Amino acid sequence: MLRRPRRLRINDATRELVRETKINIEDLIYPLFIVEGENIKNEISSLPDVYHFSLDMLDEEIKEIKDLGIKHIILFGIPHDHEKDFCGSEAYNDNGIIQRAIRKIKEIDSDINVITDVCMCEYTSHGHCGILTKGGYVDNDKTLEYLANIAVSHAKAGADMVAPSDMMDGRVKVIRKALDKEGFFNVPIMSYSVKYASTFYGPFREAANSAPSFGDRKTYQMDPANSNEALIEAELDVLEGADILMVKPALSYLDVIRRVKDNYNLPLAAYNVSGEYAMLKSAVKNGILSEGAIYESILSIKRAGADIIITYFAKDLAKMIKDNK
Ligand code: PBG
Repeated sequence: MLRRPRRLRINDATRELVRETKINIEDLIYPLFIVEGENIKNEISSLPDVYHFSLDMLDEEIKEIKDLGIKHIILFGIPHDHEKDFCGSEAYNDNGIIQRAIRKIKEIDSDINVITDVCMCEYTSHGHCGILTKGGYVDNDKTLEYLANIAVSHAKAGADMVAPSDMMDGRVKVIRKALDKEGFFNVPIMSYSVKYASTFYGPFREAANSAPSFGDRKTYQMDPANSNEALIEAELDVLEGADILMVKPALSYLDVIRRVKDNYNLPLAAYNVSGEYAMLKSAVKNGILSEGAIYESILSIKRAGADIIITYFAKDLAKMIKDNK
């Protein structure tokens, strides 16, 4: 037989030689949730094996991350309930939870690449990602100046990269301008370009205490039914100066990742979100699936075209990559 594809599957060495896709530890970004208080390392009930950390508990965690070879983290801050207000002021307070966390982490290890989520939902009393008008509609243009202030305060605290996740129109341009004006022209923007209004964020909202107190996010996040629109969102972010594009969630949107990858040459990130993690993690913990399912599903995100993957599985994957999976 002239064509016998099984020839290249004959043994480990040959399979490795022709393997098209690999997950590298450098591709992974690990999310961290930082809370106010002291002596806190509490497992998040909706996200098994993921914890809330107070600042004083970060030393050990950052060392573990480093020892595993993980190079990038993305930070989410959770302020005290009484600090939340209509415009999320704690989000751009130079002494807010995230700003202190950035400084602390950089003090522990200046090499770790610290990315910050730029959004307001964890900081607003109403849980929406922007400033509300009377009817409860999120005012796009009013929100932009707040987002710019948040991004600048993160950069001032030492963030290496900012990642706006609010889905306001025009925010990348406004944030770029504000960062440049303050001299942060080398701080890249990883834009949550294509972010769907997904039910898969459920466990995160519990973890970050950021669920909207009324309504939903459908007037700013995308309709899960749309993929042409993903290219419009990506195009706008390219034009506005984003350095890295992102599709979120990942596993239910592999087709969208592929379309964005085929159409744009910027590095592409995908967010393997909390619901995707929680489902698979519980299946593995309960013995329904073996651990290999984790590697296989993250591999599918890479194969679909993501260069960078934000995932709560980063630690599990680091171990699998080390053991040469
Ligand atoms: C903030 C934000 C959310 C996530 C990342 N940044 C929640 C949301 O948009 O409601 C979700 C991450 C996850 O589910 O893992 N806007």
